[in-house]
Amino acid sequence: MSFEINNICCIGAGYVGGPTMSVIADKCPNLTINVVDINQQRIDQWNQSDLSQLPIYEPGLKEIVSKCRNKNLYFSIDIEKHIKSADMIFISVNTPTKVKGIGAGQASDLKWIEASAREIAKFAEGKTIVIEKSTLPVKTAAIINKILQESNTEINNSDREFFVLSNPEFLAEGTAINDLNQPDRVLIGGDNQEAIDALKNLYLNWVDENKILTSNIWSSELSKLIANAFLAQRISSINSISALCEATGADIKDVSLAVGMDSRIGNKFLESGPGFGGSCFKKDILNLVYICKHHGLDEVASYWQKVIDMNFWQQKRLSEIIISSLFGTISEKKIAILGFAFKANTNDTRESPAIKICRDLLEEGGNLQIYDPRVSKEMINHELQKQDENIKNNNDYKKLWKYCESVQQATYGVDAVLILTEWEEFKNIKWQKLSKSMRSPKWLFDTRSITDIEEAKSAGINTWRLGNSEAI
Ligand code: UDX
Ligand code: ADP
Repeated sequence: MSFEINNICCIGAGYVGGPTMSVIADKCPNLTINVVDINQQRIDQWNQSDLSQLPIYEPGLKEIVSKCRNKNLYFSIDIEKHIKSADMIFISVNTPTKVKGIGAGQASDLKWIEASAREIAKFAEGKTIVIEKSTLPVKTAAIINKILQESNTEINNSDREFFVLSNPEFLAEGTAINDLNQPDRVLIGGDNQEAIDALKNLYLNWVDENKILTSNIWSSELSKLIANAFLAQRISSINSISALCEATGADIKDVSLAVGMDSRIGNKFLESGPGFGGSCFKKDILNLVYICKHHGLDEVASYWQKVIDMNFWQQKRLSEIIISSLFGTISEKKIAILGFAFKANTNDTRESPAIKICRDLLEEGGNLQIYDPRVSKEMINHELQKQDENIKNNNDYKKLWKYCESVQQATYGVDAVLILTEWEEFKNIKWQKLSKSMRSPKWLFDTRSITDIEEAKSAGINTWRLGNSEAI
């Protein structure tokens, strides 16, 4: 049996679905790609003529959308129509950690995946390849398969056939277009060779064959989880050493460089910072911990849990350093927060370390002036107000923080500047000029090691850089 692929549907127009389908549309002009979502506002944003208003900021994305949109790339809420006509359906919906019920705080909430499978079961026609793109716990494909196969038995339609594949997405936000254009590898898991070949042929339009790996579906699902766990583990490792550097007189930048030049270790993902954020790392490790516990592997579970604990500790310790440096109280003091996104070149704030650090500082009564070149006031407000079991949400946060439109506005009249995201514009701050508008004594806390610390010092600012012992 061979597959003829003409129409593709992607369920979920988010950070994964949007950029991934845009690149597929660009690389495969002969295919029609429909990206569908239940969120009308999100689809409207994808369809806006002003490309600076796309729902996702990702370098290079708007150029591709402008080239392909309404030619072979469409964004729509008509889920039924586009599932019906699809030969291949990608599922790219959100899979956050469960907040209640069994596995709360660890397991992924699969309700959106299940809903997508049910939509496919209801509307699909003919032979359909169904591909999980979202990061998922191992064995999710079995759930999707069961829903699809049983729907077939129920409606007794012998013309319909489903083939479920796992094709995890490895793109990182901020570099998504490049990661999609030139992937390190493409992983396809499944048990039907023809379906695997159909997806492989799609990627062969721009990816070398030797970079396309195939495996059974469970290896594919698990590999994605483990890749993310290993990346997060490196960050927690280097962050743990940043604290040791501060205690011993070593400098984390020198240590990272020396360690990373060992070709067995490699130099990527060794930058210490305020801790990892983003929608994947924490969720995936929690998931891994949950799966290990489920299988009675408690030692393995606690090993990986430590990666999360270290990440939390790094954020907590940063707030404590700031508060103790500012004479143990930040009440009535103003602090400029530069950067709120979880990393540079994205407007995504999910799990951003800025959330916990800002909440800690607000809890202590600090007045925050927050600026991020890409994150909106509404999003910051949403993140700061969101209930969190670790935070006593008693303060009226709104009165204590102010949204700012520029570095100048955010730093005006402040006692301290705190750099949380490594945006390019923060690297070029002229401290001599900026220090004039700060209140003395003045502090700079650079958690990303990106600023000219010497210039800041010569401008009369007390400086602190993560992983450096020359404390204030
Ligand atoms: C990650 C994976 O890289 C990607 O393969 C997967 O598909 C999704 O999850 P993403 O979360 O978008 O991608 O960004 P990534 O570049 O991995 O950064 C994650 C976090 O780690 C950010 O908060 C970043 O600031 C932090 N980080 C990264 C460090 O603190 N130090 C580093 O050296 C690298
Ligand atoms: P990711 O980072 O995994 O792409 P996002 O939250 O950015 O996650 O995007 C997921 C998208 O999936 C959201 O826009 C959401 O509205 C959409 N979605 C969730 N469930 C469904 C569903 N059953 N049908 C269609 N779209 C869905």
